[in-house]
Amino acid sequence: MEKKNMVAPSVLSADFGNLDRDIEMLNESCCDWIHLDIMDGVFVPNISIGFPVVKSIVKVARKTLDAHLMIIEPWKYIKRFADLGIHCLSVHYETCPQLHDTIAQIRSLGMKPGVVINPDTEVEVLRPFVKEVDYVLIMSVYPGFGGQSFIPHSVDKVMELRKMRKEVGANFLIEIDGGINLDNITMLRTAGVDIFVAGNTVFTAEDPKECIRMMSEL
Ligand code: DX5
Ligand code: ZN
Repeated sequence: MEKKNMVAPSVLSADFGNLDRDIEMLNESCCDWIHLDIMDGVFVPNISIGFPVVKSIVKVARKTLDAHLMIIEPWKYIKRFADLGIHCLSVHYETCPQLHDTIAQIRSLGMKPGVVINPDTEVEVLRPFVKEVDYVLIMSVYPGFGGQSFIPHSVDKVMELRKMRKEVGANFLIEIDGGINLDNITMLRTAGVDIFVAGNTVFTAEDPKECIRMMSEL
């Protein structure tokens, strides 16, 4: 079978007591990116990992590292992520009043910038920014926790975003995050998704590497 989809397993669902083992498993898998969820307990009602854990992951990981910042005032920490060796950094539209500047700052530090929108945020707000980013992340659950159910309306948002990409002549990738499983990937690829984040589906699978392979070939 041929690889069709980019897959970005989310470390949020990994076993943090055996992180090296789980990152090594991802290195050996056919995943494209490794997705790191950074939560501050303010923008979202949960706290995940911070710099010391990210540093340990960077040491072991041999894939592109995609950090998803669910924190307020993310611009204060962009340089820290660049210095640690993160490759792709996404910030929430909802947290960035100076989004043009924040995107430029991410790029100037050598990382690929991405912008994320929550389930209740309209795709249209992104129009002024989409030519400046390498990827747009559509949240298909309310951010904060792994293992939630996919919000069906996210499919319309993906299609709207793809239409916007064509209209403005941009070439960002479309990433989706939340409730992704083996049953909704094909439909979402048809709608326009390029990169699939998956936590629960990968890490609860009996054979996570095989699960990633299936996700990439569906
Ligand atoms: C949720 C995070 C996700 C999370 C997805 O706020 O942004 O990356 O790990 O988990 P699943 O794939 O289990 O819905
Ligand atoms: Zn995420």
